[in-house]
Amino acid sequence: MPHLIEVGLKRALTEEEVREFPFSVPAVRALERLDVNVPVTLFVGENGSGKSTLLEALAAAAELPSLGTSDVGADITLAAQRRLASLLRLAWRPRSRQGFFLRAEDFFGFQRSQARIDARILREKNESLGIATEQSVATAGGMHVDEEYASRHINRYDARSHGESFLDLFSSRVKPRGLYLLDEPEAPLSPKRQLVLLSLLVGAASSGAQFVVATHSPILLAFPGARIFSFDDVPIREVAYSDLEHVAVMRDFLNDPDATRGGSARLAARELVQAKEGPGGKVATQGSVRREFGMIQAMPEAMVLT
Ligand SMILES: Nc1ncnc2c1ncn2[C@@H]1O[C@H](COP(=O)(O)OP(=O)(O)OP(=O)(O)O)[C@@H](O)[C@H]1O
Ligand SMILES: [Mg+2]
Repeated sequence: MPHLIEVGLKRALTEEEVREFPFSVPAVRALERLDVNVPVTLFVGENGSGKSTLLEALAAAAELPSLGTSDVGADITLAAQRRLASLLRLAWRPRSRQGFFLRAEDFFGFQRSQARIDARILREKNESLGIATEQSVATAGGMHVDEEYASRHINRYDARSHGESFLDLFSSRVKPRGLYLLDEPEAPLSPKRQLVLLSLLVGAASSGAQFVVATHSPILLAFPGARIFSFDDVPIREVAYSDLEHVAVMRDFLNDPDATRGGSARLAARELVQAKEGPGGKVATQGSVRREFGMIQAMPEAMVLT
């Protein structure tokens, strides 16, 4: 069941505002009314198109906790996203206070902060029972006793692989009435486990949870009934799964990996450069291709664009 039904801007942006990040990002600058009145909304688009920026601002505006190293509300690197959050107009039905924001790439940070919280709970429990806290060498070295305990016991949290523990989180933390904002949750997952995540999302959504997910995964993008917004269009617009470039590129590659390793990869790199530099844009050296697109690094010399 959706809780958040609409996202928009409270007012028009000033000329000064649109010169600076985050309003300088085309998809953000042209943000109109986004109808998210569905259990699952997916953000798709090229790298740098603004998906994370909007998701982080949404997390701040909805006052959702982050599962990670620091909260969106407090993270010093996200001050600009909080400026965007203060201009977002969210419509709810009804307002949900449950849920979280999660960047899959920050999942290790989440495990570390869990370990620190558990260490503090254990210490406070012991202290209330009159059991002395384990003093450590590291405490004398300046690390807080909970931090030191957590770093010694982090392997308990890490005993399962990144992808396995990430999926555990879904099984245990997602509640029917929550709103969950997920940034590239596919990052630690094998294709098979992306399918497992897809089915967990389907189950959670059918029991009342709502998801807004930024993803590049053709598997997650296939969520049945999801509303897909493309950030490659300005303003952001709804697109059908069958029209997604991500899906077409992946399908073409899988249909004929040999052909794709040749001409199509060169074409894809050229398209990316031209999207960035305009129709006249060209890539002259392998070095500049490497700087622009890490993906090309794995390719042989024959891939150099001229
Ligand atoms: N703190 C910042 N200051 C200035 N520009 C930023 C900042 N954070 C992101 N950007 C820029 O804003 C644009 C949008 O970035 P964002 O991270 O939202 O893209 P994205 O769609 O999530 O990309 P990806 O698919 O690679 O995760 C990019 O051009 C990025 O370089
Ligand atoms: Mg992103």
